Amino acid sequence: MTETTNMTRPVLVTGATGMTGSRILAQLRERGVPVRAASRSSEWRFDWAEPATWDTMLAGAGSVYLVQDDSDPRVPEFVERAVAHGVERVVQLSARGVDQPDYFEGVEGAPSHLRAEEAVRASGLEWTVLRPGWFAQNLSEGFLTDGARTGVMRLPVGEGAAAWIDVDDIAAVAAAALTEPGHHGRTYELSGPRALTLAEALAEISEVLGNPIRYEPVSAEEYVADLLAQGWPEEGARELVAALSAIRRGLESKVSPGVREALGREPRDFSAYAAEAFSRPPW
Ligand SMILES: NC(=O)c1ccc[n+]([C@@H]2O[C@H](COP(=O)([O-])OP(=O)(O)OC[C@H]3O[C@@H](n4cnc5c(N)ncnc54)[C@H](OP(=O)(O)O)[C@@H]3O)[C@@H](O)[C@H]2O)c1
Repeated sequence: MTETTNMTRPVLVTGATGMTGSRILAQLRERGVPVRAASRSSEWRFDWAEPATWDTMLAGAGSVYLVQDDSDPRVPEFVERAVAHGVERVVQLSARGVDQPDYFEGVEGAPSHLRAEEAVRASGLEWTVLRPGWFAQNLSEGFLTDGARTGVMRLPVGEGAAAWIDVDDIAAVAAAALTEPGHHGRTYELSGPRALTLAEALAEISEVLGNPIRYEPVSAEEYVADLLAQGWPEEGARELVAALSAIRRGLESKVSPGVREALGREPRDFSAYAAEAFSRPPW
C-alpha cells in the first residue's frame, strides 16, 4: 500500500487529555496539523462505552491516534467504523510484552492490547503500532505521584529495573507516524536508553526535589491491599500488579530500539526527564 494520508484532513487524537494524547496534540499543533481532541471530557466528546459518540469524531478525519480503554476495549468495532468513514491511517498505543506469554504474570489469554493490534493490522489502513515500556511520567503525572509527594513509595517490584521511557518521546514517534511517510506496517518497541531500579530512579528525583523519597518493597498481596484501601476495584488492582511483575522479574530492564528506528535519534535519558519534570509546578 502507498502511504497517501491527506494531511489537510484532521488527525483524531483519542485519549486527548492523557499523558500521550495531550503531548501528541501539542506536537501536531506546533506542526500546523489540524486536530480533533477526543475523550469524555474533551472538545470532541468521545466515549468508548458509547459507540453513538464515535461517528461524529470519525467523519472527515484523515488519521487516528488510538488509545484504548483497557477495561473495555472495543477497538475492532471502532477500526471497522474508521474504515467506513474513509480514515486512511491509524497509530495505535499498545504496550511492550503483549505478544509474550506470561509477560504480565497470571494474565490468561491475549491481553486486550494484542487483540487491538490484530484488528489494526487487519484493517487495510496504513498502520503503526507503538509498544512502549513503563512511562517515566507515571512518577510525576500518573499513578505513582503519591509516592513522590509523601516521601515513601510502596511497590511490589523488588530490585527490578525499568528502562523508563519519556512520554515526550512516545509522542514524537506518534506525531511522526501520523504525519510522515515511512512508518506504515511498523511496530515500534519503545524504551528509554538505560534501566534504573526504582531506588535509583527515586534517588535522581530526590536530588531534584531536595527531599528524600524512599522505596519500600512490598509483596503483591500487600500492594493489592493498599490499592483496595485507596478505592481501586479488585480487578484493576490485580491487573496493575500483573503489569508491575514485569519490572520485578527484570523484563522491563530491556532497552528497546524503537525511538532510534522511528526518529533516527536516541531516546531521552531519565536524568533529563527528572530534572525537567520535578523542577516545575506542581513539584
Ligand atoms: N503508563 C504506562 O507506563 C503504560 C505503559 C505501556 C502502555 N500503556 C498504555 O497506555 C494507555 C493509556 O495512555 P495514556 O497514558 O496516554 O492515557 P492516560 O494518561 O492513562 O489517560 C487516559 C485517557 O483516556 C481517556 N479515557 C478514559 N476512559 C475513556 C473512555 N471510556 N472513553 C474515551 N476516552 C477515555 C481519558 O480522558 P477522559 O477522562 O477525558 O475520557 C484520558 O485522555 C493504556 O492503554 C495503557 O495500557 C501505559
